[in-house]
Amino acid sequence: MLTEQSPPTDPAGPLPQTSPAGLDDFMGKMVGDMGAAMSAALVLLGDHLGLYRALADGGPATPAQLAARTGTTERYMREWLAGQAAAGYVTYDEDQHLFSLDPVQTMVFADEGGPVFLAGGFDVIAAMFRDEPKIAEAFKSGDGVGWHEHHACLFRGTERFFRPGYNANLLSSWIPALDGVEAKLKRGAVVADVGCGHGASTILMARAFPNSRFFGFDYHAPSVDQARKTAEAEGVGDRAVFQTAAAKAFPGDHYDLVCIFDALHDMGDPVGAAAHIRASLDPDGTWLLVEPFANDEMTDNLNPVGRMFYAASTMFCTPASLSQEVGLGLGAQAGEARLRKVCQDAGFTRFRRVAQTPFNLVFEVRP
Ligand SMILES: C[S@@+](CC[C@H](N)C(=O)[O-])C[C@H]1O[C@@H](n2cnc3c(N)ncnc32)[C@H](O)[C@@H]1O
Repeated sequence: MLTEQSPPTDPAGPLPQTSPAGLDDFMGKMVGDMGAAMSAALVLLGDHLGLYRALADGGPATPAQLAARTGTTERYMREWLAGQAAAGYVTYDEDQHLFSLDPVQTMVFADEGGPVFLAGGFDVIAAMFRDEPKIAEAFKSGDGVGWHEHHACLFRGTERFFRPGYNANLLSSWIPALDGVEAKLKRGAVVADVGCGHGASTILMARAFPNSRFFGFDYHAPSVDQARKTAEAEGVGDRAVFQTAAAKAFPGDHYDLVCIFDALHDMGDPVGAAAHIRASLDPDGTWLLVEPFANDEMTDNLNPVGRMFYAASTMFCTPASLSQEVGLGLGAQAGEARLRKVCQDAGFTRFRRVAQTPFNLVFEVRP
């Protein structure tokens, strides 16, 4: 029992008289990191409820005005806007008492078709939290967790995370960097997009090259269904055809171009997939391999982009690979040397880096 003579003590024990060097700085970093993690849920709200779009379209607003625009309620909106302003994701004008998106914030949070739209990728973050118990079990058992075993928000989030990069780079930079491929696509080529997911890359190419035929393959049937629907909606269903197929077994031969966008490292047997691609290519064909940006040495990936990709690799990519035959577990930070070896082991003789972005490595691989 507590008495006046025995004041309550901190159950964790007394704080050290002297803190280790750097504690204040590290606590500051952690407050920033925890704030970012917590406000990720607020970004999901802003994206799913159309709050960013309405703020961009309608211009500066009070909480009540933005609530009225979006069919939501003022009290919630006040809290959300204050949190977003604290994050620096929206701008607050203290004189006018108005919240707004500046041009940069608009591009990142409201411009879905643009080159730097990031809000859609927060659905990937949501999948990490929803599926954490499955991954915790996999840590203990060593078993894999298939791509298809994740919450559906991962599939749409992946499409929305990667699509801006494809919009910004695929037609303007990556395809032109390949030897002779753009000319073939203009004339009329046959193309396979393997591990196509929702088909963002396939459909982008199909729109740009009407004389060519595109075949998107993915082992995940719901993603293939979605890709098919999007291709129909975008008016390219005649030349962008989607089929459920594993990377080691997709049909067709004499492809002029085979593409894999951010999917090779998710596969259990990337060498087997590469060997099947080699067998499916025209002798003069090209494999366009796009993988997450990574340096060869882990120590050179200990930076903000590596942090994101190691997180995705822990929660999605490595478990996906371990769930499949062979289970190589390349990981999302494989880097050029390991990717080159995969291609060499599959019998390819030519491999060169043709482009890169902060998020992607782009390779031309040829028989
Ligand atoms: C990170 S997602 C990338 C999807 C798409 N290429 C994009 O860029 O949006 C990886 C994709 O690889 C697919 N995948 C994984 N293993 C596969 C395999 N063995 N054969 C075919 N597809 C596979 C998954 O279903 C998923 O759609």
